Amino acid sequence: MRLASSERERLRELLKDCIESREALRMKKYVQHGTISTYDHCRNVVRVSYWLSRRLRIRVDERALARGAFLHDFYLYDWHDKDPSHRLHGFSHPGQACANARRYFKIGKKEAEIIRCHMWPLTLRHMPRSREALIVCAADKYCSLLETFLGRGGKGVRICG
Ligand SMILES: [Fe+2]
Ligand SMILES: [Fe+2]
Repeated sequence: MRLASSERERLRELLKDCIESREALRMKKYVQHGTISTYDHCRNVVRVSYWLSRRLRIRVDERALARGAFLHDFYLYDWHDKDPSHRLHGFSHPGQACANARRYFKIGKKEAEIIRCHMWPLTLRHMPRSREALIVCAADKYCSLLETFLGRGGKGVRICG
């Protein structure tokens, strides 16, 4: 799974106002799966989502896809912490991530849907209805699985080059 340099450049352009922002960089502090930070996980999901849309020639709103994918886990806490408020993390974090994304970045309806629906079918009522949300929902599961198993060696996992 590999992106062309022009595709990587396009992603940089689409994410330029958020990927290096102070708020987004906070995701580097939190562990997502294995040894992967939430920030690296979100970047993996961006790359895999974009790769899927390009290689399968699915017509998408690229800006919404990239930004929704990058912000899908922008909930800003470590879900491993034994804090009672994190007990229902699986169900509640898409809403938290969406609220943070709205607060810090300009996101539209499509990005909000991508973020809110990425945990489906766990969040039964939030079913992905757009192509972009479906792609991110699938890419998130794929990346989570690989990160959990490949990240055990203590190294970061870059899924899509
Ligand atoms: Fe998530
Ligand atoms: Fe995720």
